[in-house]
Amino acid sequence: MRFPAEPFRIKVVEPLKITSEQERERLIKEAGYNIFMIPAESIYIDLLTDSGTSAMSDNQWAGLMLGDESYAGSKNYFHFEETVRQIFGFKNIIPTHQGRVAENLLFSNILKPGDVVPNNIHFDTTRANVEYHQAQALDCVIDEGLDPQNPHPFKGNMDLNKLEKVIQQYGKEHVPVIMLTITNNSGGGQPVSMQNIKEVSALAKKYQIPFFFDACRFAENCYFIKEWEEGYQNKSILEIAQEMFSYADGCTMSAKKDGLVNIGGFLALNDDDWAQHITNMLILIEGFKTYGGLAGRDLESIARGLKEVLDENYLRFRINQTRYLGEMLDEQGIPIVKPVGGHAVYIDAKQFLPHIPPEQFPGHALVVELYKRYGIRAVEIGSLMMAKNDPQTGKMIPPKLELVRLAIPRRVYTNMHMQYVAEAIINIYQDREKLKGFEIEYEPEFLRHFTARLKPVQ
Ligand code: F0G
Repeated sequence: MRFPAEPFRIKVVEPLKITSEQERERLIKEAGYNIFMIPAESIYIDLLTDSGTSAMSDNQWAGLMLGDESYAGSKNYFHFEETVRQIFGFKNIIPTHQGRVAENLLFSNILKPGDVVPNNIHFDTTRANVEYHQAQALDCVIDEGLDPQNPHPFKGNMDLNKLEKVIQQYGKEHVPVIMLTITNNSGGGQPVSMQNIKEVSALAKKYQIPFFFDACRFAENCYFIKEWEEGYQNKSILEIAQEMFSYADGCTMSAKKDGLVNIGGFLALNDDDWAQHITNMLILIEGFKTYGGLAGRDLESIARGLKEVLDENYLRFRINQTRYLGEMLDEQGIPIVKPVGGHAVYIDAKQFLPHIPPEQFPGHALVVELYKRYGIRAVEIGSLMMAKNDPQTGKMIPPKLELVRLAIPRRVYTNMHMQYVAEAIINIYQDREKLKGFEIEYEPEFLRHFTARLKPVQ
């Protein structure tokens, strides 16, 4: 069997609303052609994000009923703490309501203006949290990781030369932490190899710089290591995770991904002084240290989700479902980022729609068409989201890549849904010359993609 079938059966269903193309055409027009402004109810297949969109298991739902909502010392916190400690191994475990708060707490504790934080590629919220502290977020991924067609199996790897140059250029006292994002979301959900993790860890030790993971998709990363890296085929996912985390000093985590829950996160770290300071901050902004902005029942479902995500049958299906969608597209010549990453398929919109220049947002044009014709929601990661303006000329400087991300929620859609998505994209590809670009009617000062209004170029 080339692709494994779903290793679960469905106990509860959520009916989807089926809308007509005319309705969708009206809705997207009213939304100013902005996919974030469409009521989610009118979307058939929502591939906007894999974050907080997982389906929980019966075991997790059962855990919700065991929620202990004591303000301090909830039993669910202890279950959560014990589970995180078993997998991640870090000494201090601080719950937060999602990943970006863990980032904010960490950076508030360690960054001063002028510092730099290297990463393979920073995710938006990590970058924003670093920059908010007047520090620089630097990307040091290997060059292969920036080339959509390069088949390197671990395109999330850090380039050790780039990393060492950064440390030497700024001085180790200005690099309070080295981060590594597993899997590398902004680079296409690409994994990092154990070998690379060891080397980053050794370099961090050499300069006595703490080393942290951005661990949102850690289990998916472990599966790729098991699949592709020499010497890991006979290890369990738990053993691989334990080894991986043993090389670091801590991690930030959004449990909305590999925690298999709809809300939650944490910061885990070995340093007691940092932990104490951060816990005091936590109490100020999130809540007491045994709930950190979450209900007891949420902590219980995270504890259960973290155990379930290590199940190899689940991960085999998960990684292969994403791969299945990618390969259906690739077989029809649709340009995608290769190899397919863990949580999403990324379409190269520059190649898909070469007749639409970056100033007219080719990725956005594809996103609008996918919704209008098929009720599918994807997200543009291209010039609408990422372009900067030249301060002198005011002209747009487009990013290197014009991508459309199809992020797949965990345990939510079947492989037949994936076939539907593939056919939709293949149909659009067949008459892609008909697609037109877009121009902006209104844009806010920052993060424009969330609320901008656009119209088709005439
Ligand atoms: N780090 C990475 C690598 C992420 O992908 C995300 C979220 C975060 C941190 C922040 O976590 O949302 O819980 O605060 N990524 C989502 C996405 C939003 O769609 O890729 P959060």
